Amino acid sequence: MASWTIQKLLDWTTEYLTSKGVDAPRLSAELLLCHTVELTRIELYTQFDRQVAKRQLDQLHDLVKRAGLHEPVAYLTGRTEFYSLELEITSDCLIPRPETELLVQRAIEFLRTRAGVQFVCDLCTGSGCIAVAIAKNHPDSRVIATDISAGALDVAAQNVEKHQLKERIELLQGDLFEPLVRQLDVDQFDLIACNPPYVSAAEYERLDNNVKDYEPKSALYAGTDGLDVYRRIMEKADQFLKPGAALMLEIGYAQGPAVRELLEETGAFAKIKIEKDLHDNDRITIATKVSH
Ligand SMILES: C[S@@+](CC[C@H](N)C(=O)[O-])C[C@H]1O[C@@H](n2cnc3c(N)ncnc32)[C@H](O)[C@@H]1O
Repeated sequence: MASWTIQKLLDWTTEYLTSKGVDAPRLSAELLLCHTVELTRIELYTQFDRQVAKRQLDQLHDLVKRAGLHEPVAYLTGRTEFYSLELEITSDCLIPRPETELLVQRAIEFLRTRAGVQFVCDLCTGSGCIAVAIAKNHPDSRVIATDISAGALDVAAQNVEKHQLKERIELLQGDLFEPLVRQLDVDQFDLIACNPPYVSAAEYERLDNNVKDYEPKSALYAGTDGLDVYRRIMEKADQFLKPGAALMLEIGYAQGPAVRELLEETGAFAKIKIEKDLHDNDRITIATKVSH
């Protein structure tokens, strides 16, 4: 046992995860090891010869076994990185995806074109990743973030606290806009940002096991065609937006045309743009409310 150094464990774990077909096996091994020995990734690289204690070996063994069964590493370590911010994560919330950073980037760019305090609503906040990243990068923003899941909101609350944003982010539990109706101080926003559930019934069946078996179905599934939540957002978004304000939605890889049609049907938006991600998939829609 005493001969298990960080280097040896890293190599062994990488090989094991590779043999189990786990994505990014080297990175996953590093993250599991960092978590177990309580080091950052840089520290790990400077302490390759350090021997790992028996208690930590046992803990690592358990985590590696679960990772080999495709349990997501973010749930095993309880954290992930999003928009260069470390976030707490539990299986009550979706693991923030790098693709969602595009929505955050466009949101921040939009807010920076406007003067004064900006009121932002983050619907379906989950871990709070979008709300936290926007508030952290746009000090003049005040965010109200909602989610139907109490478990997800507990995680969001930890992330708000962790990044010292309690003064600027308010978390409310309920169905889409419903908790805002009870909210008296802000009734119209400069920006509504949302990454809702958008997976169709057919897509849900085909999801990778590491998603389908571990991430909450309520964070992913949105009816037969995957558009149920968009339809419900479009019914009300208009009344919660100031003239000239923006609605930014993450969308599925081929949902651009359908979401554009839903937005057009409302007659409330002057400009509607679909943006693709780096893999050339539809990724976000940006709609600007008519300014009169
Ligand atoms: C795709 S996840 C997005 C989480 C987070 N914003 C992100 O980008 O990682 C969707 C979230 O919507 C929440 N949700 C699902 N249906 C909802 C509803 N009707 N009202 C409010 N939130 C809902 C889920 O609990 C989940 O946290």
